Amino acid sequence: MSKVGVLFIGALGYIATTVVAGSLALRKSLCKRTGMVTDLDIFSGLRLIEPDDIVFGGWDIRPGSPLESASTFFRNNQMLDPGIVSGIEDELNALSVNFFPGTARSCGRTIERMAEKSASGECTLRALVDKLRHDINSFRNNNRLKDVLVFNLSSTEPPLNLQHCHTELSAFEDLIGNNRCEAVRASTLYAYAAILERCPYINFTPSNAALIPALIKLAEEKDVPVMGDDGKTGETLVKSALIPMFRYRNLEVLSWEGFNILGNMDGRVLDDPENRESKILTKEQVIGNILGYAPHSKVHINYVPSLDDQKTAWNFIHFKGFLGTKMSLQFIWQGYDSILAAPLVLDLIRLMELAKRRGESGIMHHLASFFKAPLGVNEYRLSEQFRMLTNYLNQVNKT
Ligand SMILES: NC(=O)c1ccc[n+]([C@@H]2O[C@H](COP(=O)([O-])OP(=O)(O)OC[C@H]3O[C@@H](n4cnc5c(N)ncnc54)[C@H](O)[C@@H]3O)[C@@H](O)[C@H]2O)c1
Repeated sequence: MSKVGVLFIGALGYIATTVVAGSLALRKSLCKRTGMVTDLDIFSGLRLIEPDDIVFGGWDIRPGSPLESASTFFRNNQMLDPGIVSGIEDELNALSVNFFPGTARSCGRTIERMAEKSASGECTLRALVDKLRHDINSFRNNNRLKDVLVFNLSSTEPPLNLQHCHTELSAFEDLIGNNRCEAVRASTLYAYAAILERCPYINFTPSNAALIPALIKLAEEKDVPVMGDDGKTGETLVKSALIPMFRYRNLEVLSWEGFNILGNMDGRVLDDPENRESKILTKEQVIGNILGYAPHSKVHINYVPSLDDQKTAWNFIHFKGFLGTKMSLQFIWQGYDSILAAPLVLDLIRLMELAKRRGESGIMHHLASFFKAPLGVNEYRLSEQFRMLTNYLNQVNKT
């Protein structure tokens, strides 16, 4: 079987680096599949692709190499086994040929500031899309790939104010032709290029500019599977498992306050209120959607540089029971963000490749459990979202 390519947007970031290092380590049996959902028994027999079948590449707007990124990640987060990087050094070096300079066009001040000057260049939107399509085709041809998937793991952009030109495909194509830079963000251009090249596209970030309604229509037309938004890896994962308990016991939630501290580059970008707004919008959807009413609730996100990839989320839940008695529940989630995210990225690669092979197109509703704000899905309870996935697997097994 010829191989499948995966192009990461944000290829030098922590999550992309952890996915690549983890896959190379899996190939050499240097680690286990703990944390990968698709390693559960129910996925056996589906002929999902293996780490050996995947060629990685991608775009970034900062200089660097996969080996430098992996070394930085392992140095800054010393819980990881440094033997893993030395065991995969040659393979990491070899990947550099599949890396392309990305675009930071209309990404907002914080991302544009950290980009190389050339990434915010002057060329037209049409020329940028053509360049990204050219990169995808070079990657496909140079590595003789059967298929290419594009995975958005770039920094969170400020929200895009969606209008008519983002809903209708012809209006969207006009705005590209008319070079209306203020009406797109970089993630829109990557998604457009990917779907035109018939590449499954996954938006693991909260950036709402990536899978705008016009591009979802284009994906349906071109038989391309797409899914997003914002990977569900930590605090929101716990919430989507816990909130139904209050509903099933008829306990009234009065307030749900979430305080997050994190220190990596994602945290630095989210320290800008413009970018943070995107993350808060995806995080805040879950409570009201599951409870059916909106208690007082706020998500706070603070940047604490010394933590690097360690994330701590403290949640305080104030609720009312029989005889109007007020009580509370608190939990603290402590995790390494990229270690939680990377196995899910591998799961999504495997399941999106399966969807493409099966000729599926448009939004992949059955993948809702992987996302904080699942596109096209109103079900936010983790258990029910998981049921959607198992129902899908039953269908696949029957055909
Ligand atoms: N870690 C988690 O648990 C988790 C969960 C859900 C969502 N996310 C989201 O995933 C994304 C990646 O997280 P991370 O921790 O790897 O962040 P990171 O800051 O380590 O990596 C982001 C990378 O994207 C690059 N980049 C920024 N804009 C770009 C562009 N326009 N084109 C190409 N590259 C670009 C940056 O240079 C950087 O290398 C973030 O948006 C984050 O909010 C993370």
